[in-house]
Amino acid sequence: MSKNAIVIALDGPSASGKGTCGRYLARKLGFRFVDTGAMYRTLTWHCLRTGVDITDPARVLATIRNWGAELKVEEGDVRLLVEGYHPAAEIRSDEISNTVAKVSPIAGVRVWMVRTQRECLAFGDLVMDGRDIGTHVFPETPFKFFLTASDEVRARRRKAEGSKDNTAERDRRDASRTVAPLEPARDAVLVDNSHESPTVTAEFMLAHFQSRRQVLGL
Ligand code: DC
Repeated sequence: MSKNAIVIALDGPSASGKGTCGRYLARKLGFRFVDTGAMYRTLTWHCLRTGVDITDPARVLATIRNWGAELKVEEGDVRLLVEGYHPAAEIRSDEISNTVAKVSPIAGVRVWMVRTQRECLAFGDLVMDGRDIGTHVFPETPFKFFLTASDEVRARRRKAEGSKDNTAERDRRDASRTVAPLEPARDAVLVDNSHESPTVTAEFMLAHFQSRRQVLGL
């Protein structure tokens, strides 16, 4: 592991622009981008395709103990592959969007995910996008952002993508679950991008990061 690796934690609800802004930041800085939502989606996809009952936490945990998953860098992103395969398109289906919130609250799943997400440090400096990165995965990082956008704007973005994903319902579940609920870390910078383009938002975050990095001498 690179001892001095920098992590930018980027949390927020679905369709808040985390992915677009996070990838922009990572590319500008030469950091690896990690989409942790994709990891929860990949586990959900794997369970469904192998006939694992996702309403039974014991079955899901038995699966995660031995599911042939490994981290790999592809196109600048750290990805979770299952038996060498990254199901990029499959995990964006409405079926996965509407069932992932059954898998993500399972405590043992979160323990496995947090450990695996921390292992991403082996790949160097990171921009990591998720729900609990600043609160649970890398609470020690001094670089934390919490991105939001209004419910209307987020629903419009999902619709424009052709998705029937029920973002409001999923966010309600994510925010109300007892294990690692969606909430900003106390020291996170809150950014509302309802009325800004992704580029303007990401440039703001980049400038904020650079000045803080300078102050901290990192
Ligand atoms: O970011 P996304 O919409 O792809 O995330 C999919 C689901 O995974 C979302 O409903 C919440 C969950 N998730 C989580 O619980 N913790 C994370 N760090 C990332 C995602």
